[in-house]
Amino acid sequence: MEKDPALEFERWRERKKIRVNELLDRFIEAHCSSVILKKALRHALFAGGKRIRPLIVYATSEALGIDASQADPVSAAIEMMHSYSLVHDDLPSMDDDDFRRGKPAVHKEFGEAAAVLTGDALLTYSFEVLADGATDLAIPVWTKILAKAGGAEGMIYGQLLDIESSESLLSLEELELMHRKKTGALFSASVELVTALRPGESFPDLHLFADHLGLCFQIKDDLLDVQGNPEVTGKPAGSDKKNNRSTFVSILGEEEAERRLEYELELSLGCLQKVEGETTNLENLARLIAHRSH
Ligand code: IPE
Ligand code: IPE
Ligand code: MG
Ligand code: MG
Ligand code: MG
Repeated sequence: MEKDPALEFERWRERKKIRVNELLDRFIEAHCSSVILKKALRHALFAGGKRIRPLIVYATSEALGIDASQADPVSAAIEMMHSYSLVHDDLPSMDDDDFRRGKPAVHKEFGEAAAVLTGDALLTYSFEVLADGATDLAIPVWTKILAKAGGAEGMIYGQLLDIESSESLLSLEELELMHRKKTGALFSASVELVTALRPGESFPDLHLFADHLGLCFQIKDDLLDVQGNPEVTGKPAGSDKKNNRSTFVSILGEEEAERRLEYELELSLGCLQKVEGETTNLENLARLIAHRSH
């Protein structure tokens, strides 16, 4: 019987989501003594996230012919780092959003102090899970990649630029920098953490792919903030406008933002064409990211 590529991708995605969910579940179960913190961590981690970053990790592993088991620590770590960023992003002092992944934000359910600590726990766990599963050789390299991506020159820098963008309208260049940092950094890390398993080789096209994909992802997020249905996105609509943030939509308008989204998608797919190895799932992920409804 003919294989249906769309169905194959669906099935692959489901398998990999189950894989990362099991990793996260086992880790939390084994490493959290506080009943309340465990509840909050579970709320933050298992509310139905798309697991896009772990999927990029596994698809990149396939492109390099690396077994998924070698990438497991990276996949769990990047999702923990991402989930922490969302818990803090929703706080009243940040975006002040009450819903996430279709459920009350962690601070709405458990209070602000517990939400800060839940985020802190996820951030520190991300390094613990990485070190737990890494070979001696990978630990320092992985640690540095993850720390840089999540840190003051990566995501945190981007989040700060985002908050500052309420005060003055950003130029397109500044906006791109902000997106590359606040979102792109973790996308790039999802690929770099895997290519680090092939020391001595360089993968410029895969790294450039991740850069375009990260931008693509956040442009779509900006569009969904305006066009999305909260019942589907699982988060409030109009958060950026409420906070007077500079976004691709507020600066370029919806039509131009959509054009830029397609352009970044094309560029990312162009990069993949130059990559040797199996890139079908990376291609499918890129299309999914650009055309998703949540
Ligand atoms: C939302 O990320 C936050 C951004 C970086 C824009 P996702 O859309 O990947 O969130 P989940 O994990 O699927 O909920
Ligand atoms: C969030 O960007 C980026 C990070 C959490 C690092 P947004 O604030 O646009 O994400 P959403 O729209 O709340 O998911
Ligand atoms: Mg934000
Ligand atoms: Mg937000
Ligand atoms: Mg957003």
